Amino acid sequence: MLLLYWLCGSAVAGTPLQAPDPHSFANYKQVRSRHLVLNLAVDFTRQKLTGYVEHQLERADPAVQRLVLDTRHLKITAVTASNDGVHWQNTPYLLGITDNLKGQPLTIQLQPATQAVRVYYQTTPQASGLQWLTADQTSEKKQPFLFSQSQPIHARSWLPLQDTPANRVTYQAEIQTLPELLAVMSADNSANTKRDGLYHFDMPQPVPSYLIALAVGDLHFKAMSADTGVYAEKIWLDKASIEFADTQKMMDAANRLFGQYPWKRYDLLVLPSSFPFGGMENPRLSFVTPTIITGDKSLISLVAHELAHSWSGNLVTNASWNDVWLNEGFTNYVENRIMQQVYGQSRADMELLLNVQALRDRIRQLPPADTRLQPDFTGRDPDDAFHQVPYVKGQLLLNTLAQHFGQQKFDEFLRRYFAEFAFQSIDSSAFIEFFSAELNQQQSFSEASLEQWLYQPGLSGEILLPTSDTFRRISAGQQQWLRGETSLSLLATNQWSVHEWLHFIEQLPRQLSPQQLNELEMAFSLSQSSNAEIFTAWAKLVIPLNHPQIIQPLRQFLLSVGRQKFIVPLYTELKANPQWRSWAAQVYREARPGYHPLAQQQLDRLGL
Ligand code: BES
Ligand code: ZN
Repeated sequence: MLLLYWLCGSAVAGTPLQAPDPHSFANYKQVRSRHLVLNLAVDFTRQKLTGYVEHQLERADPAVQRLVLDTRHLKITAVTASNDGVHWQNTPYLLGITDNLKGQPLTIQLQPATQAVRVYYQTTPQASGLQWLTADQTSEKKQPFLFSQSQPIHARSWLPLQDTPANRVTYQAEIQTLPELLAVMSADNSANTKRDGLYHFDMPQPVPSYLIALAVGDLHFKAMSADTGVYAEKIWLDKASIEFADTQKMMDAANRLFGQYPWKRYDLLVLPSSFPFGGMENPRLSFVTPTIITGDKSLISLVAHELAHSWSGNLVTNASWNDVWLNEGFTNYVENRIMQQVYGQSRADMELLLNVQALRDRIRQLPPADTRLQPDFTGRDPDDAFHQVPYVKGQLLLNTLAQHFGQQKFDEFLRRYFAEFAFQSIDSSAFIEFFSAELNQQQSFSEASLEQWLYQPGLSGEILLPTSDTFRRISAGQQQWLRGETSLSLLATNQWSVHEWLHFIEQLPRQLSPQQLNELEMAFSLSQSSNAEIFTAWAKLVIPLNHPQIIQPLRQFLLSVGRQKFIVPLYTELKANPQWRSWAAQVYREARPGYHPLAQQQLDRLGL
């Protein structure tokens, strides 16, 4: 099986052969867009982007007569073409019929000499990749806010392009907006000192479409070190720069382990709390949720994660969303190595163990075919490809290889892997080939186990996990309390980190008596926790138990936080509780307008 895979997927003259991306209409193998010029006006009154995108083309097949771009819910107003980049003429185009998953192909006629095309367009309110916030929905409540979220296939909802991770583009952009607002992009933001509503960006390094990102708001900047800084609404700026102060140390650690940081600067952008993810690895400027700003750096592994993508994902990119483990599994591995270096083995181990617990829970819920590292997402929404399997099972595979070959040897191998495939998009077979040639020449890691890891469902074989004495002590104390042999006040919780709390809560039995719940509440006030991870873990546990103290804070939480990792499981538990379901439906009606379109879509599916 592996051999067959190598034969089909092997490199020919340096260009890896790949199956076409099942989530794109683009004919990028015949003609590819290699540089974009974006020219957009950000209109907050009508909540739309208006302008054009220019595609500078490179033809692999000189005979090709059309360029096919991906679009979704865009209004196309004109298309022009140029042979010299100076003179532009209208050119025929056709917006095809809508595919529920992929959107509409935009087919543009090319002349033999066409070098570039410009597509004039406007976005519509259905853009899944944009969230427009009114001033009221921001932290400061003074100015409106806009941000994009392109991964995996939402870029096409805000600009017509070849929306596939198999292609890369450099780009430049001219963004016009209100003079009191600042625009930032996944590009060089250094020219943005003058706040006048007209902003220019350059991204000289080629990136896949899902890494093109834009945000506009009442943003301010604070430097953290020479190469790192934070953009945020004023209210968050100081807190964020304290919380993220170790970013430079993380970058130094990753540089040592995996090779020089390739993107020049690394800044973080704190988004409004409706941001549907924890973080998004937009190059040079990761987008992050404010829910990780807790005052104690406890959730900072998320910064390590997004920073890690600077190598795994942004530099070496999965060629299609079937190989998402190449992005996320590698990133979880790199993240954990960074955490080990900066915060020590014990914290990194606790984070790994919590991840593994979440993976085991998830595997129990998923159909077996989706627990393979390489699922086939053809005909399915790639949003659904991101779950614990590619992240944590992928991470465990790399941990297993690191244990087998030795940590240092394995990290050196990864460093060569990042150098070898820098600025390229690859699929799993390219990784396997490189692994076989560079690390596993003696085949000491058996083909059979590799095959098992990559193609078989679930977790099998032996996985060597670290043990955590801290976690063991916590479990033991919890057991004693459950047996009535000790009181909660004797558990010495005042030194507990967030990880210890999460372990404690997640290990509690699903059935607790009202007295036990009250005892926990009296001792720890968990329903009042301001840490979103702790709050969510606790709320998930107590919703099925009708714990009355959770109601008010839960309502408050659901109305103010839009991160799907928290709100989707919470609404799911609420829906499953017949006594709270209609209350939850009411909260959802109230909260929904503040949620991101992607979160709305997820939650609508629940059918509350
Ligand atoms: N690339 C993801 C964000 C993402 C996920 C975008 C799914 C589109 C679809 C990002 O790097 C990520 O994994 N974020 C995680 C945090 C991480 C620490 C596991 C998140 O958002 O929770
Ligand atoms: Zn990630």
